[in-house]
Amino acid sequence: MPKDALKGRDFIAITDVSRRELEALFETADYMQKHVKGGTDALKGRILCTLFFEPSTRTRLSFETAMLRLGGGVTGFADPSASRTVTGESLADTVRMADSYGNAIVLRHRIEGAARLASQVAQVPIINAGDGTQHHPTQTLTDLYTIRKEFGTVDGTSIAILGDLKHTRSASSLCLGLTHFKDVSLFLVSPEQLRTKDEVKDLMKAARLNFVETDDVEKVIPQVDALYVTRVQKERITPEEYEKARGSYIITAKMLKRAKDKMIVMHHLPRIEEIPLEVDYTRHARYFEQAANGLPVRMSLLSHLVE
Ligand code: CP
Repeated sequence: MPKDALKGRDFIAITDVSRRELEALFETADYMQKHVKGGTDALKGRILCTLFFEPSTRTRLSFETAMLRLGGGVTGFADPSASRTVTGESLADTVRMADSYGNAIVLRHRIEGAARLASQVAQVPIINAGDGTQHHPTQTLTDLYTIRKEFGTVDGTSIAILGDLKHTRSASSLCLGLTHFKDVSLFLVSPEQLRTKDEVKDLMKAARLNFVETDDVEKVIPQVDALYVTRVQKERITPEEYEKARGSYIITAKMLKRAKDKMIVMHHLPRIEEIPLEVDYTRHARYFEQAANGLPVRMSLLSHLVE
């Protein structure tokens, strides 16, 4: 595939790219691993605008670092209270401004569809840094890259996604990302009230991705190559729902004794109480490596998309 097949494109959902394009992004991420500390000048003179209407540690900092490591510059806001949003300026007008200043826009927003709307307004690429409860495509790129790095391929792996599958966009987005791969066995582990949305399940069925829904994490642990843990999304549910759901599944080091030798525990982070510190010291913990992979992955994505 010529490198510029992705040039100038938006990245709103993980299904916006083909399997072939995913592989090209992963190969470039492998190359970028060599430049995460020293940097390159691949995007010298380009500016990235980061518009974060919701909090972020990893996504914003890794995007900004990625652009700086590629020789470009960064502007934007980490908190909409420091922008004219507080005066009532619309999302579309805010995006128009960033479009005229930068070469790409990274947008995080509470409302589902915000990134798609921004892409209809802007000329430069819009990269969805998470909107609503369904899409977080750069997290999914990072997750798939982590699995590929660990097992050589995502094809044929057995994966469990655990926790709040209804409100966690990283979980829904990973479900959609796995539709690109062959012979994946997927376990969706959650209490009844936090099950994956029907819309996401319909898309997986259409793509013939095999999945099983269960609430029995103990039974699933010995069967999988990767256990992807999520937190209960306190900010997206009522306090009563939160109290009912919190701590639904806490993964302990003892539970992992029944896991395959090479099984990895992943988490999109931040973790709250679902992975206690003791798990950090097991051979299974990969969540910090996973977060670190976000840098070469985002360097790769920017280098492909930005003109
Ligand atoms: N995983 C993730 O999106 O982390 P942040 O919310 O810190 O960006």
